[in-house]
Amino acid sequence: MKNDIKQILLTKEVIEKRVQEIGQEIDQYYQNREIIIITLLDGAIVFTADLIRNLAIPLRLDCLRVSSYGNSTDPETAPRILSSLKSDVRDKHVLLVDDILDTGNTLQSVFNEVTSKQPASVRSCVFLDKPERRQNGFKADWSGFSIPDEFVVGYGLDYAGRYRQLPYVGTLKPSVYS
Ligand code: XMP
Repeated sequence: MKNDIKQILLTKEVIEKRVQEIGQEIDQYYQNREIIIITLLDGAIVFTADLIRNLAIPLRLDCLRVSSYGNSTDPETAPRILSSLKSDVRDKHVLLVDDILDTGNTLQSVFNEVTSKQPASVRSCVFLDKPERRQNGFKADWSGFSIPDEFVVGYGLDYAGRYRQLPYVGTLKPSVYS
C-alpha cells in the first residue's frame, strides 16, 4: 500500500495538531450548547472519530450516506443522499462534517436537505478543501487544510474503496490508476 503513494501531503503529526485546533475553535463557537454532528459516510469517518474526541461540548452523532466516486476520481454532478437521519434536527444546532469539499455539490445538497427540517443552525466542517474546484459558492465554516486540485487518499479518503486507513494524506502514483 505504501508503495502506491507518490507523495505525502499531510503527515500524521500535522493532521493531529490541526484537528486539535479545530476542536478548540468549535468548542469556543458553540459555548457548551449541544450540537448534532451529521457525518457524511464513508469518507468522513476517520476525521469525525478524531474530531469528536477533541470536542468538550455536548454532542450527538448521526450519519448520512451519500453517493461517492465509485471506482473513478471524478465527482458525480448530482450527489445522492442514500440514507435518512435518525435524529430530529428541528430547533437543534447541526454541524455537518465531511472529508473534503471539492465541487461543493455534496455539502450544498446535504445543507439544503438539513435546512429544510428547520434546525436552529447549520454549520459545516471539512477536513480538506480544494477551493479551485468549487462549482458553487459553498464555504465551510471550519476547514482543516486547503489543498491543490489533486486526487488524494488516506485519513478516510479512498480510491476504489482502498487506502482509507493510512494515517496521512497523500497522492497516488499514476500506475495505480492504470
Ligand atoms: P463534492 O465535489 O461534492 O465532493 O464537493 C465531495 C466528495 O467527493 C469526494 N472527493 C474525494 N475523495 N479524494 C477522495 O478520496 C479526493 O481527492 C476527493 N475529492 C473529492 C469525497 O468523497 C467528498 O465527500
